[in-house]
Amino acid sequence: MNELSSYRIHDDLLTFKPFINYESIVCVYFPNTEKKINAACIGVHFTPTNEVYIHAYEDTHTKELLTVGTRFSINFSENFYEYVVAALRRKDHDEPIDELPRSAFLISDSIPILKSAWAAVECEVLALPSSLLEKPVCKRREIPNIRARIIKKEVFRLPVLFNNRSMNLSIEALILVTRIPIYEKYSKEFNDTLKIYNIIKRKIISWRDMERFHQSYELMDNYLIENGVKPQELSFF
Ligand SMILES: Cc1cc2nc3c(=O)[nH]c(=O)nc-3n(C[C@H](O)[C@H](O)[C@H](O)COP(=O)(O)O)c2cc1C
Repeated sequence: MNELSSYRIHDDLLTFKPFINYESIVCVYFPNTEKKINAACIGVHFTPTNEVYIHAYEDTHTKELLTVGTRFSINFSENFYEYVVAALRRKDHDEPIDELPRSAFLISDSIPILKSAWAAVECEVLALPSSLLEKPVCKRREIPNIRARIIKKEVFRLPVLFNNRSMNLSIEALILVTRIPIYEKYSKEFNDTLKIYNIIKRKIISWRDMERFHQSYELMDNYLIENGVKPQELSFF
């Protein structure tokens, strides 16, 4: 072994613990569309049996596309902007178009992979075991509706930025942004959620970490404005 090879990243470095929700960007081709790519922010659960489980929401392309035998990638990236673009529903959602620019992907025959990913897991959808088709024991827990086997795990590099509180809070802010438009205007949930979103922005500014998230918050603010929030409701100065 030479000096360099001892620094090579080994794919075994990437181990996932069960019962943890790993936030990722799941990418899959739309069939019969010259490889148009669907990208979605999805929480993924790993198991000790080399399988992954996902709960895909109803009425999403992700749910529709991840049928038995379909291959997809689970991407881990520090690029929060791509999480935002992947999560916010377009007005023309029903059209199978590339949500992120094609230049953002490594395009192979069966699976698209995000270039920004420091690690990716390639998977193939399996049938669900019958035990999982039963009702969940806990009402608040959504049971997974997609099961897949891991074909390959790849670690391309070590992450440049490790997940920190700003990234975690920003992911939380993104989730809030996806919910605000579905709440009744000025209901308690609407007001509270908008308030927390503004508090998160203020926190990140006070931590002097807004520079790297600026474009993403602009996109989230604009999305809210397009969905009926008034610009002055997004200012906090
Ligand atoms: C942090 C985060 C986590 C999410 N996790 C899930 C998830 O586990 N399952 C899901 O279906 N959608 C999840 N969503 C919402 C999806 O990103 C959204 O439904 C998806 O982009 C729908 O797009 P599609 O119709 O193009 O698949 C999450 C969103 C965010 C911001």
